[in-house]
Amino acid sequence: MFDLPVLTEVKPKQKSSQILAETTKVYIETYGCQMNVNDSEIVGGVLQAQGFVATHKPDDADVILLNTCAIRDNAERKIYDRLNHLKYYKKRNSHLVVGLLGCMAERLRTQLLGEKNLVDIVVGPDEYRKVPQLIESALHGSRGIAIKLSKVETYDDIEPLRTEGISAWISITRGCDKFCTYCVVPFTRGRERSRPFTSIVDEAKRLYDSGFREITLLGQNVDSYFDKDDNKNFADLLRATAIAVPKMRIRYTTSHPQDMSDAVIETMGEFDNISKFIHLPFQAGSNRILELMNRTYTIDRYMNRIHKIKEVMPNCALSTDIISGFPTETEEEHQETLNVVREVRFDGAFMFKYSPRENTKAWKMGDDISDEVKTRRLNEIIELQYSIAKEINETLVGTTEKVLVEGPSKRDASIWIGRTDTNKVTFFPHIDTKGYVIGDIVDVTITKTTSTTLNGEIN
Ligand code: 5AD
Ligand code: SF4
Repeated sequence: MFDLPVLTEVKPKQKSSQILAETTKVYIETYGCQMNVNDSEIVGGVLQAQGFVATHKPDDADVILLNTCAIRDNAERKIYDRLNHLKYYKKRNSHLVVGLLGCMAERLRTQLLGEKNLVDIVVGPDEYRKVPQLIESALHGSRGIAIKLSKVETYDDIEPLRTEGISAWISITRGCDKFCTYCVVPFTRGRERSRPFTSIVDEAKRLYDSGFREITLLGQNVDSYFDKDDNKNFADLLRATAIAVPKMRIRYTTSHPQDMSDAVIETMGEFDNISKFIHLPFQAGSNRILELMNRTYTIDRYMNRIHKIKEVMPNCALSTDIISGFPTETEEEHQETLNVVREVRFDGAFMFKYSPRENTKAWKMGDDISDEVKTRRLNEIIELQYSIAKEINETLVGTTEKVLVEGPSKRDASIWIGRTDTNKVTFFPHIDTKGYVIGDIVDVTITKTTSTTLNGEIN
């Protein structure tokens, strides 16, 4: 067995550890959602402030950190596969420190420490300030774990280490209080808390001044954002941000059908710099299943939000999340899910097979839908959704879209990439003489489309 020090207090830095930090290269690999991407940047910020050096090459690293996801079983399996692979790195360098951060770390806790004789540190989402100290202890040979959840931690004072691009994530809330019965997030990320209003708006301004041209406000449920000291809700935050950075493209995710207010939708409609794109998960088309999921709304309420959005912003793009094969879901209820997909006509969707997660309420409902049926239902949803998205995108051929230029595409440097105001990935041949640069918004006339991308020519 290993000695498992649960660290509760960060000791002041000593000079010798500063020197150690300055020669220690850390590589962070991120799995899962955008919140994790931003969390890795926060960990990068914490480490940089203590003098550690970031590296993009795992081969060069003294420390490899995996920021993990626990939302579905296959997300966790990916991490185990990666750990297997990291064994070779450890063979080559026996001093290598391997750490697991994030939701899987929080969920599996001590079970992960020493996993495959490889994992040295385990750190939950609210304990990232302790990463430097844990690394130092690990470099001296002791394994460590820090997994306490907090009611207040928002990392508000930490400047995330954003290394590239013109798009930045800003976490506005952490945790979730919704307790959808299938979901581990309330257990892995703890209670919901909001970051102070003014510090978010100030960060948006700083980001614009340092060259960023797009921000995405992040939360598990942005609509429940509330700064009680300032008495400001999410609509207030959207408005204030849109005014503070009028040339920044502003996005946000994720919305909740129960909590999304008219004020949020109307504020979006009012400002050109708020992207006309909403990610509004509906999860399932049957009211009975929604109740079993504890989603707190009916399909009528969901459609009411969609109608309001379309009334205020007829061209707003929509995406959603859907789960197939929730416990006891019947064939008719699956058809109801397909009907919602048909009725709303989403531009995009993330579609998943139900994955039972230990300790959630749904776990106790059993997992009675066979994998075969879940897969068949999922494929039906995917097929329908793709055909609709393809049709929607085809209607864009010949139109001119405002594309925020992100730079050369990975495959071909002469083809550049950007996204429309409605968040559609757009490819266009780069023309040097047109005089635009990365971060500009340009007019692109759409010539060809697929279900997920647009191609066009710059005007
Ligand atoms: N099984 C399948 N999908 C899930 N999601 C969350 N938990 C589960 C689970 N246990 C999906 C939901 C959510 C998205 C982020 O992941 O659709 O909106
Ligand atoms: Fe999970 Fe529901 Fe919270 Fe989303 S709203 S993170 S699905 S509990």
